[in-house]
Amino acid sequence: MADVHIPHPLPEGTVEGNGAYAVGNNGDHFAVTRRCRHLRADLANGSIDDDGCLVCPWHKAKYDTATGRMVRGPQEPFNKYPGLSWAFTQLTKVWPLGRANVVVDEG
Ligand code: FES
Repeated sequence: MADVHIPHPLPEGTVEGNGAYAVGNNGDHFAVTRRCRHLRADLANGSIDDDGCLVCPWHKAKYDTATGRMVRGPQEPFNKYPGLSWAFTQLTKVWPLGRANVVVDEG
């Protein structure tokens, strides 16, 4: 697994971009590849919900940052299509977001 270096710890509940990764702190630092598996929104612009999941900024799919799997599929307007959420959650069981180790380089 690759390492992503950050210069200082991130405040809990924040997400930012770092090269190809969305790096955040949901109690622990995490780094996942930053393109949503749905329509490639930049997950570095996402948010962290009360469950500690990374939420896509476009259609609010939720990701488990430990596994890279989508645990809730795209919401409005895509939640009107039966099976779509299930299909994406199944897809990310075999094609999860990439993950990397976060290394805090503070001196
Ligand atoms: S692009 Fe992420 S849920 Fe649609």
